[in-house]
Amino acid sequence: MEWDSLISDRVRRLQPSRLTAIFQMGDGQDVISLAGGVPDPAFLPVERIREATDTVLSERGGEALNYGSGQGVLELREFLAARMSTDFMKIDPENIIITSGSQQGLDLVGRVLFDEGDKVLVRNPTYIGSINAWRSYNLKWEPVFSGGESDDLDRVMQPRPKLMYFVADYENPTGEMLSEARRRSLVKALIQYQAAVLEDDPYGQLRFEGERIPTMLELEAQHTGTGRIGGHVIYAGSFSKVLSPGLRVGWLVADKPLVARIMQIKQGANLCSSIFDQFVAYEASGDGFLDAHILKLRGWYAERRNAMIAAMERYFPPEVTFTRPHGGFFVMVTLPEGMDSIELLKRAVERGVVFIPGEAFHIREGGNNNLRLSFSRYKPELIDEGIRRLAEAIKEMIAERV
Ligand SMILES: Cc1ncc(COP(=O)(O)O)c(C=O)c1O
Repeated sequence: MEWDSLISDRVRRLQPSRLTAIFQMGDGQDVISLAGGVPDPAFLPVERIREATDTVLSERGGEALNYGSGQGVLELREFLAARMSTDFMKIDPENIIITSGSQQGLDLVGRVLFDEGDKVLVRNPTYIGSINAWRSYNLKWEPVFSGGESDDLDRVMQPRPKLMYFVADYENPTGEMLSEARRRSLVKALIQYQAAVLEDDPYGQLRFEGERIPTMLELEAQHTGTGRIGGHVIYAGSFSKVLSPGLRVGWLVADKPLVARIMQIKQGANLCSSIFDQFVAYEASGDGFLDAHILKLRGWYAERRNAMIAAMERYFPPEVTFTRPHGGFFVMVTLPEGMDSIELLKRAVERGVVFIPGEAFHIREGGNNNLRLSFSRYKPELIDEGIRRLAEAIKEMIAERV
């Protein structure tokens, strides 16, 4: 079949992702992949999920294996609404839509809001999955909060963007936090300019150290003082990093008029997200299990973050710098100016270690001398070995420059 003449212009515009090839490089036996933001399989609560599955099947098998609510299982939405509500922000189950992973949330928000050529503000670099989800709309991406603290919100709000998108907590790919001051100034600007932000928060609960910074959803509710969500922040949450990514359960929180619009589109996308997976996520999370598990994950991932930082301090030459995240999965490394992380990747693969080159996360050019490393997948000894191999490749490249 000659498919090229049938494929839509929209899809033809998409370039095949070079990342696929990079992930495949990580499949070899002796390759340490610091590329994917993937939990260690040993951290996934298999026994708890087995028990939850048994309970769901024996207590409500007929309901769980059937079609169900497009908005999501009510018990799960009630659980999330209670979990996210605070003294000054009450979230109703009606504010929540369960999605098939938060990635589906990004896709749905894009489908509801974007027209061809719309302006979207992001940090640069940003999460590659947002670029992928929205690439076909031919958006005008503009960076904000990417340089110093002096980003001028009045300037970037004109003309008004269709959406802003941030991973405010332990950002993918940098591991950095959006400061509380920036969150507060953003919330004010949202209200002043009647603009919207999508706050994508899969990592917020994986905090190893430092004070918790309130989400923009909370800050807006605090700012308006109505006790409800304010409506300018759309929040995307996920069970992927705190329970299991294989369950594919995420959620969106939004004000009710937008929830109704998203529901219209979700019908066409998948009728409902897996009812079975939602019941299992609900059952597994209950009785305090989720909070107890998150506490353990914080300790385990913190140990790996420490191992990666210690190894980078030990093996990397001093001209290489890196972020020191207080949570999440990722570290961003900066090579000396002029060094190319794709060239480095080729040499790293030969030594049995892979990562994601920084330019993959950039909305335009840039990031050529950056790379993202993930510390989520391996034990400290293997992280150390991966960084040792990477450092050899870096030193070899630096030596050839002089
Ligand atoms: C920032 C960010 N958003 C969304 C996702 C998608 O997560 P999921 O669809 O598994 O909930 C990821 C996954 O790595 C992520 O890093």
